[in-house]
Amino acid sequence: MQAANVLITGASSGLGAALARECAGPGVVLHLSAREASRLNGVAADCRAKGATVHTVGVDVRDEAAMAGWIGGAGRLDLVIANAGIGAGTGDGWESAEDARRVFETNVTGVLNTALPAIAAMAEQPPGADGLRGRIAVIASVAAFVAAPSAPAYGASKAAVQRWTEARDATERKRGIRLHAVCPGFVHTPMTASNDFPMPFLMEPERAARLTLAGIAAGRLRVVYPWRLYAMARLVGALPPGWRNWLLGMAPPKRSGTPSA
Ligand SMILES: NC(=O)c1ccc[n+]([C@@H]2O[C@H](COP(=O)([O-])OP(=O)(O)OC[C@H]3O[C@@H](n4cnc5c(N)ncnc54)[C@H](OP(=O)(O)O)[C@@H]3O)[C@@H](O)[C@H]2O)c1
Repeated sequence: MQAANVLITGASSGLGAALARECAGPGVVLHLSAREASRLNGVAADCRAKGATVHTVGVDVRDEAAMAGWIGGAGRLDLVIANAGIGAGTGDGWESAEDARRVFETNVTGVLNTALPAIAAMAEQPPGADGLRGRIAVIASVAAFVAAPSAPAYGASKAAVQRWTEARDATERKRGIRLHAVCPGFVHTPMTASNDFPMPFLMEPERAARLTLAGIAAGRLRVVYPWRLYAMARLVGALPPGWRNWLLGMAPPKRSGTPSA
């Protein structure tokens, strides 16, 4: 997909970095963010080498005012990808209060802090060549479809943004803005590097980025891959809750906490 003006949060690592590199090309303007500048600068250099104009900013997605200022001042935006997210789990035996709050603040409030100013900005801009004012992709997860006891806040945060995105698209498309809920399976990134349990159909971030952008370009409301993991999640998710918790309770715990605050 070759959108001209693209904004991506969490672009310094993993899927966000792969999305930035995949979008980069001559005539493309990229607005990239993360909290930590050094890794982001490396991704920006790769994108500039592919011919893109790149603007970077160090901003925390949890900072509502800073996000509104950055997104509102970015100029025309054809595609905004709310990608920044963190994981946490029950590796210590339970999910800590700190982890539960941090996951919701980043994965839910952080997505709203990205998508809401993007919607406001897009509503004021004229339609582009594709007839749309803009597209917003929210990176949820296949984890949205099953309440996994090993990562309670993570699964719930992804379910929240997947449902919000799909429902909000119904009204936004009437004014020329499309929303896409992107639900990847396991992707080989720093987030999954500490997982010491089997990750079926694990894929490289470059492939996940291509599948994400192809799904958005095809106009799919829910972009979900790989389909075999999705089918498994839907099956397990359809079990009575007690059976589901018993079955998934046999899985090894996901390590708690994330490297970043
Ligand atoms: N890996 C998977 O298997 C998988 C599967 C499904 C969905 N996802 C989702 O894909 C997205 C990217 O994950 P990933 O696997 O690529 O993880 P990652 O390699 O850990 O990258 C996370 C990115 O988000 C940024 N970030 C984290 N907290 C932030 C904050 N408060 N403010 C601004 N930026 C922040 C990080 O940069 P800084 O630390 O410098 O801020 C980094 O650029 C997440 O939403 C994740 O839930 C991942």
